[in-house]
Amino acid sequence: MLQKVVHLAALLLVVLRPNGSTVSLIIVSWTRFTYISMADDTLYSTGMVEEDFSFNDRVAEVFDDMLDRSIPYYRTVIEGMAQLLACRLATGATLYDLGCSTGTTLLELSRRLPAMNFHYIGIDNAPAMLDKARRKSAMYSKTAILEFRQDDITRCALPAASGIICNYTLQFLRPLTRQAFVRRLYEALPPGGILFLSEKTISHAGRLNRDFIEIYHSFKKQQGYSELEIAAKREALENVLIPFSLQENIALLQGAGFDEIETFFKWFNFTALIALKRP
Ligand SMILES: C[S@@+](CC[C@H](N)C(=O)[O-])C[C@H]1O[C@@H](n2cnc3c(N)ncnc32)[C@H](O)[C@@H]1O
Repeated sequence: MLQKVVHLAALLLVVLRPNGSTVSLIIVSWTRFTYISMADDTLYSTGMVEEDFSFNDRVAEVFDDMLDRSIPYYRTVIEGMAQLLACRLATGATLYDLGCSTGTTLLELSRRLPAMNFHYIGIDNAPAMLDKARRKSAMYSKTAILEFRQDDITRCALPAASGIICNYTLQFLRPLTRQAFVRRLYEALPPGGILFLSEKTISHAGRLNRDFIEIYHSFKKQQGYSELEIAAKREALENVLIPFSLQENIALLQGAGFDEIETFFKWFNFTALIALKRP
């Protein structure tokens, strides 16, 4: 699939003639078409799993399609964050997206919140993801407000952060490192700062957990993935994506010191949380 953006610069000239009448001229100065490939996610269509899942070049190539078809209500969560950001942050604030992948979240937020004049910084350690993020940012003429950095989110400094987003990324960090990571985010924020944490979650209620997984697989089938693909992807993610329960994620946020913590979106085994640092 290809996404196409048309950049069109037009100038309207109103010329006054000697007889007093006017003539309007529209001058199209240039037109540019930019294409960016959005390949369909067929990574597991053969059912073969040759290696554990990782954020490599092949995944980056199909990642936008994978996200749209694998994370239920992905854009609804972004819309919820946009509404909360508009409530809680001042204009001109700096917002980080940790594990930003191809930059979709920041692009969407900048489109939805033009009046907030936020400075957006996306951080990821996968070069292919960042390459795509930068190309998308250029395509939508957002390079002045969107910055993408290659770094390790567990170590990098986050200067001037007023808000931090960490969506579907904590689940890829080793469980034993998660508390220290969330504590670092807390320390990086000023009083009143915001953290968004969205994750795939498990339920400790065993029967309901199985139901939720079944419902999620039905969602993926509706998105066009075959049983074979779903099983193969699940196997590839087995020791790579380790979900916590909602309660465990809340405990991490409390353990870091966050003051107010609330779920703003939940769909079976997907949960989005907001956490506020005391003002
Ligand atoms: C599932 S994706 C995140 C999706 C993205 N937040 C969104 O909502 O569109 C996880 C991302 O985290 C990145 N990542 C994982 N561990 C990382 C680390 N230690 N430092 C930086 N990036 C990391 C991966 O490269 C990948 O792009």
